[in-house]
Amino acid sequence: MARFHTLPVAAVDRLTDDSVALTLTVPPRLREEYRHAPGQHLALRRLVDGTEIRRTYSICSPAPAPDGEGPSTLRVGVRLVDGGAFSTYALKEINVGDELEVMTPAGRFTLDPAPGIYAAIVGGSGITPVLSIVSTLLEREPEARFCLIRSDRTAASTMFLEEAADLKDRHPRRLQLVTVLSREEQQAGLPSGRLDQERLTGLLPALLPVGQVAGWFLCGPFGLVQGAERALRGLGVVRSRIHEEIFHVDAAAPAPAATAPAHSTVTARLDGRGGTWPVQDGESLLETVLRNRPDAPYACKGGVCGTCRAFLVAGEVRMDRNFALETEETEAGYVLACQSHPVTEKVELDFDR
Ligand code: FES
Repeated sequence: MARFHTLPVAAVDRLTDDSVALTLTVPPRLREEYRHAPGQHLALRRLVDGTEIRRTYSICSPAPAPDGEGPSTLRVGVRLVDGGAFSTYALKEINVGDELEVMTPAGRFTLDPAPGIYAAIVGGSGITPVLSIVSTLLEREPEARFCLIRSDRTAASTMFLEEAADLKDRHPRRLQLVTVLSREEQQAGLPSGRLDQERLTGLLPALLPVGQVAGWFLCGPFGLVQGAERALRGLGVVRSRIHEEIFHVDAAAPAPAATAPAHSTVTARLDGRGGTWPVQDGESLLETVLRNRPDAPYACKGGVCGTCRAFLVAGEVRMDRNFALETEETEAGYVLACQSHPVTEKVELDFDR
């Protein structure tokens, strides 16, 4: 069950003009709770004019070894979003010594380190979780190799440039680092331009044995992830080897269809306790649950982070959109509560499963 704790800020490192890395200290009594897998994220929350806002940020630091202690620090990357209530605060106001409210780690864009070849295609701040994935894998698995393909606008706007170069220095034979800049000529490496489906289809077979890659990690803006997935599928990669995390979704959610029954109720089980409440017109099941159980887990409310995942025990729901759950998860019966509306009069969700 996700919980919030207050963690002090140990460091604020400027990465680019519009991004920082925040390092948080985890006291010994909370280290088990903040144990994370490489690729997971943290939700941060704060009150703005009486309204609670939450944002998720990926952990970029390596994951702790399973047989060791939980992490003593956590580092996340934050990029400024135009008008972003949390990112503006992070870049302009947060100082060392400040305290932040931080949810325990969540997310299933993760890698369980094992020998083999792995690859990632990332755009912009999509490097953040992948940095944790690559560093954890290469440190823990001497038989693993990684090909990291990253796309950015310019070198100056590239987050974690030094960290990626350090990793390459530490593992020169096992890490292949490919950078494509869309708005800048590079002295060495690939020509500039966007990394789209067509370009990737030509590029990937020249870089690595596509069919032998055990796991592909795609992370960044929707367009890039979608183009990369299509390129991989076109090259014969099976869907189960492709992991995706989308950072920005520009398209608006589809308009709700008028299929909700007039008097529907949701029964929800959360942290071992259950309740049944009426669903008000037009609201999502998460909103219904939150009115009665403010501890219900969520972060983005946009169908992107997956924090509100729940198991549909009974009834039927319609999801507005889903950029977080894999096909296997929806087939197994999981839904995103923030995107779900009742189709049947009675719906039952289990947030503990
Ligand atoms: S809260 Fe992020 S997907 Fe529902």
